[in-house]
Amino acid sequence: AGGEEETETSLPAPMFSRNTISVFSILKKCIGQELSKITMPIVFNEPLSFLQRITEYMEHTYLINRACSLSDSTERMQAVAAFAVSAVASQWERTGKPFNPLLGETYELIREEQGFRLVSEQVSHHPPVSAFHAESLVGDFVFHGSIYPKLKFWGKSVEAEPKGTITLELLKHNETYTWTNPTCCVHNIILGKLWIEQYGTVEILNHSTGDKCVLNFKPCGMFGKELHTVEGYIQDKSKKKLCVIYGKWTECMWSVDPQVYESQKKSEKKGDVHFDRNKPEVDRAVNDDADDMPDVQETVSVVPGSTLLWRIDPRPAHSSTMYNFTNFAMSLNELEPGMEGILAPTDCRFRPDIKAMENGNMDEASQEKERLEEKQRAARKERAKSNQEWSTRWFQSGTNPYTGSQDWIYSGGYFNRNYRNLPDIY
Ligand SMILES: *[C@@H]1O[C@H](CO)[C@@H](O)[C@H](O)[C@H]1NC(C)=O
Ligand SMILES: *[C@@H]1O[C@H](CO)[C@@H](O)[C@H](O)[C@H]1NC(C)=O
Ligand SMILES: *[C@@H]1O[C@H](CO)[C@@H](O)[C@H](O)[C@H]1NC(C)=O
Repeated sequence: AGGEEETETSLPAPMFSRNTISVFSILKKCIGQELSKITMPIVFNEPLSFLQRITEYMEHTYLINRACSLSDSTERMQAVAAFAVSAVASQWERTGKPFNPLLGETYELIREEQGFRLVSEQVSHHPPVSAFHAESLVGDFVFHGSIYPKLKFWGKSVEAEPKGTITLELLKHNETYTWTNPTCCVHNIILGKLWIEQYGTVEILNHSTGDKCVLNFKPCGMFGKELHTVEGYIQDKSKKKLCVIYGKWTECMWSVDPQVYESQKKSEKKGDVHFDRNKPEVDRAVNDDADDMPDVQETVSVVPGSTLLWRIDPRPAHSSTMYNFTNFAMSLNELEPGMEGILAPTDCRFRPDIKAMENGNMDEASQEKERLEEKQRAARKERAKSNQEWSTRWFQSGTNPYTGSQDWIYSGGYFNRNYRNLPDIY
C-alpha cells in the first residue's frame, strides 16, 4: 500500500451540477439548530468521508519533517505553525460536505515518500467523533487528535467548529505541541455563490516550556480587507515576542522580526480608515441578500526581510469540475492493485455510496447512503435490545497527557493487519 507509485490525480467522473436544487425548503425550519440530524441531498456532498478530509492535514507533512530537522527551537515552532495553517488550506473553495463516517468506519493512508502512515476511526456517532493517529516511518514524530465537528446553521451560512485537540510530538526533540483548528464557515448556502471563511484564534503551545505561538485567523469584515488573513507571533515564556508570522491560509505564510513588522505596519497605517472587522456572523444573517465574497486581490504584501515558511501548491487544472480537490484529495479513494486484500474491511474506500458518487452515479449513491444509515440504525437497535455497548477497535477514550482534556488515544496494532471480528458496517 502507498509506496512510490504515481498517485491518482483525477477522479473517474466530473461532479454533478447543483444548480437546479433548492435547499431553502429543507433548511428554512432549522435556523440555529445543529445540522447533524438534517438530511441534505447528496448532491451537496463531496465523494470523501470526513475521516479522509481529516487525513488532508497530512498533505504538507514535509513541514513536520522540516521541524524535526531544525536545531533552533524558534525555527521549529515556525515550521509547526506553518504546518498548522497548511493543514486547513485544503478547505479553500471546498464547499462540498464530506460524508458522515459510520460508527466503526476506518481509514488508513501510507505515504512512503512523505514518510508517514496514518489510521483513523469513527469512535462515536452521537456526538460524531473522529480519532486519528499518524506516525513518522522513521520514528521522528507522532501526530494525533480527535475531532468533534460542531455544526451550526445560521440562516445564510453553516459554521463548523472543530472541537478537539491536535497534538504533535517531535520525538527526538522531546517537544510536544498542541492546538485546535479555527472555525470554518460556508457562506450563502441558500442563495448566492458559496464561499468559505475560517476564523478564530489558534494557540500552539510548546508543552516543554509553556512558550507559545498565537495565530489569529481573521474574519473578513465588512470591506473584506482581511479575507483569509492569518497574523500572529511566537513568544517565549517571559512573553517576549520572538517573531511575527503572517500571510493567508489560502496562499502562503511568512515570518519576520517583530520590530521590522511593527514599523512597516505603522507606516502603512497612515491614512487608513478604522472600521470594525469583527462583525459577528449573527448580524449578517438578518437580511435576505446573499453575503458575497469580498472582491480582494489574493496577494500577501511581503514585509522586506521576511522568510517564506510555506506556499500552497496550485490545484490541478480539472479541480473545479472535481469538487475543487487538491491532488492529494484526489488520491484518497484510490485502491491500488493488491490493496483490496490488505485493507481493513471497514476502510472508507469500500463505502459503496462514496464510490458511486465518485463514479457520477448519483441515484445509486443516494440509495446506498440511505441503506448504510438504515443498517447502522438497525445495528444500534440490536445492541440496545441485548444491552451491548459499542466498543471502539483502535482507539480508547482517555485524557490527553499534555492538555488534560478528554481525547481518544491510539491503542496500536492496526498495521499488524489482524482484522478478524471487525463489524460489518457496509
Ligand atoms: C519548546 O520547548 C523546548 C524543550 O524545553 C525548548 O528547548 C524550546 O526552546 C521551546 N521552543 C519554543 C519555540 O517554544
Ligand atoms: C469551486 O470553486 C469555485 C470557484 O470559487 C466555486 O464557484 C465553486 O462553487 C466551488 N465548488 C465546490 C464544489 O465547492
Ligand atoms: C527526553 O526526555 C526523556 C525523559 O524525560 C529523557 O530521558 C531524555 O534524555 C530527553 N532527551 C532529550 C534529547 O532531551
